[in-house]
Amino acid sequence: MAAVAKERLKSPRARLFVALDLPDETRERLVAWGKDALGDSALRPVAPESLHITLAFLGYRPEKEIEQIAAVVGESAAPAPWVELRDPEPRPPRGRARLYALPAISPGAETLQAGLEQRLVEVGFYEPEKRPFWPHVTVARVRPEARGSRRPAVVSEPPGPIPEALMEPRTSVRMTLYRSVLQPSGARYVPLAQVQLPG
Ligand code: 2AM
Repeated sequence: MAAVAKERLKSPRARLFVALDLPDETRERLVAWGKDALGDSALRPVAPESLHITLAFLGYRPEKEIEQIAAVVGESAAPAPWVELRDPEPRPPRGRARLYALPAISPGAETLQAGLEQRLVEVGFYEPEKRPFWPHVTVARVRPEARGSRRPAVVSEPPGPIPEALMEPRTSVRMTLYRSVLQPSGARYVPLAQVQLPG
């Protein structure tokens, strides 16, 4: 009861992150590949509109900061980076996988992430991750073993390789500030501000 009252006193908060969006054509190819590759019943494929490379996960921030955060994201625009996707990897790499992600090779995304991180830290909106930036696209999360369990189910048919065409470099031209709305069926990502990256 006391905890609820205390929570209500706090300003409303939003769960925020900034991502590099993938081109529509790439997302369409990923969805087509995933129809077979992510068919295991233990897997929950990521929705097509949620396929992205996260650049900065800010966590819960007061809603009143959103405008300023969006401005910082706008100031961090850099040349549109090319991105090369690679075959899916489980995370964690050993033991039961919680998710499968495609590593992304992209020096431009690393530069963009470093600039964004520096600006967000300067204005006090972001505490950088201790681990190095790992550019990746999460393509599926693993369902829990049982209702209410935190342990992921066993994946008997992990996703296989991606087709050659998906390994070719493609250019990502948009960076988006998203709000993550947690729901029982999974998170829904609502775009709050978008920045076109110059070609
Ligand atoms: P993931 O795809 O590797 O899980 C929204 O949750 C986005 O922010 C996801 O793409 C997620 O990456 C990323 N993210 C990064 N750090 C996170 C964290 N500590 N908690 C939740 N999501 C995080």
